[in-house]
Amino acid sequence: MKSSVYECVILPLNKIHNRAGNITIVEGQENLPFAVKRIYYLYDIPGGEDRGGHAHKELRQLIVAASGSFDVMLDDGINKKIVTLNRPDYGLMVVPGIWRELMEFSSGAICLVLASEIYDEQDYIRDFEIFKEWK
Ligand code: TYD
Repeated sequence: MKSSVYECVILPLNKIHNRAGNITIVEGQENLPFAVKRIYYLYDIPGGEDRGGHAHKELRQLIVAASGSFDVMLDDGINKKIVTLNRPDYGLMVVPGIWRELMEFSSGAICLVLASEIYDEQDYIRDFEIFKEWK
């Protein structure tokens, strides 16, 4: 699995603005490089807690700070990068084969994830040493 953190890029989403607020729409594959099969969101994250701590073998994800902010640490076994997400109209595309940790959640943050596949525990690698060997 040759994927690299440099393939994990920020994608701009649309935003329709009016005086009563904003709306962002993800429809079909218009602004995404994959079809969405699952949506989930993380919320009520206690201060100081980290999430993630795993990689996926096949899954592609778009991670969006629907509210608040947090950091995503990405590691491909060679290179690392940390991306701060804090805008609901931008998403971080995470390609398969990338170790990720989510941290520094602001109070009330909501981490929205659009995923290319339904949930499959067999797609997870939850041990960093095994991840590095697999890479
Ligand atoms: P996990 O992906 O490990 O959470 P995070 O990376 O945010 O720390 O998932 C936490 C738990 O939720 C784990 O027991 C698996 C379960 N889960 C599902 O059942 N379906 C899902 O779609 C997801 C994302 C998790």
